[in-house]
Amino acid sequence: MVKILVIGSGAREHAIIKSLNESKKEKEIYCLASNNNPGISDICNELKIVDINNSEIIKDYSIKQSINIAIIGPENPLACGVADSLWEAGIGVIGPKKNLAQIETSKSFTRNLLREYKIPGCPKFKTFINMEGVEDFLSLLGEDYVVKYDGLAGGKGVKVAGDHLHSHEEALSYCKELIESGGHFVIERKLIGEEFSLMSFSDGENLVHMPAVQDHKRAYENDTGPNTGGMGTYSDSDHSLPFLEKSHIESAQKINEKTAKALKHKFGEGYKGILYGGFIATNTGVQLIEYNARFGDPEAMNVLSILDSDLIEICEAIISEDLNNTKIVFKNLATVCKYAVPEGYPDDPIKGHQIDVSEVKNKNILFYASVENKNDNLVQIGSRAIAVVGHGETIWEAEQIAEKNILKVKGPLFHRKDIGTTDLIQKKLNHMSSLK
Ligand code: GLY
Repeated sequence: MVKILVIGSGAREHAIIKSLNESKKEKEIYCLASNNNPGISDICNELKIVDINNSEIIKDYSIKQSINIAIIGPENPLACGVADSLWEAGIGVIGPKKNLAQIETSKSFTRNLLREYKIPGCPKFKTFINMEGVEDFLSLLGEDYVVKYDGLAGGKGVKVAGDHLHSHEEALSYCKELIESGGHFVIERKLIGEEFSLMSFSDGENLVHMPAVQDHKRAYENDTGPNTGGMGTYSDSDHSLPFLEKSHIESAQKINEKTAKALKHKFGEGYKGILYGGFIATNTGVQLIEYNARFGDPEAMNVLSILDSDLIEICEAIISEDLNNTKIVFKNLATVCKYAVPEGYPDDPIKGHQIDVSEVKNKNILFYASVENKNDNLVQIGSRAIAVVGHGETIWEAEQIAEKNILKVKGPLFHRKDIGTTDLIQKKLNHMSSLK
């Protein structure tokens, strides 16, 4: 019998828990959560609401339940050292210790690591702890710059020239704002191309790569509107993306491998968990935009829903550093995931309204996120509410299924109709051709 704890309670964690539940192993699954997610509580032996960033609470609970493996879903518990506390208590963790999680929690750490270990894919950059030299570096980059707050900011710390910042004056004022609030930052060259996510299972020594996925961060159709946690994602049946060449995937995989090796060299212990590279294919090859130290959300729904291997066995192999001897297979299916989000999301989402999913026949394609059951009704509680995933031989087929079913999710919600459509994919292909 294996007892597994999942920390976090969004759609990503619902996807992880569904996948664990499909394991043939004898198991009990527990969840420490921020909300009473009904998709998760239906599967788990227990869902308990706690402060998921509090290492002591999580350690005590894990000891009490005799947990063998813990999987950390979101980034904040990693930043708070939850993995360190659990390892100290003898519990194997999928999710890096605080030092190694800097790959996500510190932009300057990541850029410096790439520079120090000569890992390809690193744009020109400079780190700042005050305003000295900022103007000169901006002048050097001209109109192609990005300012990144050097810490976790839920996706809101990155400001890109042309999108969020329209002049050097605006950039300087954002940098001053960061310094005044005690923050450091990185300025780097803006990269032009098509983005993709390439996640790898890592046992500290060996990596097994997952299919490439493309996320859509903007709230509205045609990639417009404010940035969000991710409105939807797609992947192709060959585990690549229509606008990528084989060499792009190979470059991204190599960067992940070199980064894991560099982390092990730097800290004397390996990175155990999910290494999620946010890449961009440009006219000069693949570059790294950022790293995350966990499964992507929504990307987890794409990859885990086509995982044909036992997720518990994979977790055990990560903990015992045995990924090289573990067969990990993903089905050759295309996937399209779309999120239904509350009206007003992300800036001013409405809350507390009822959602009706009764018309969706196949409930297995639903992934619950920011929702709870109240008086036997499903109610949205303010962030991305429900993700719907379609599968098919082609992205077109998968998109049709996702779109047909998300329209059956009733409530004051909206979603992006364009994600995974032939039109949007053609635009991305045209964009890549225009860069050549
Ligand atoms: N898909 C974006 C993220 O998980 O951070």
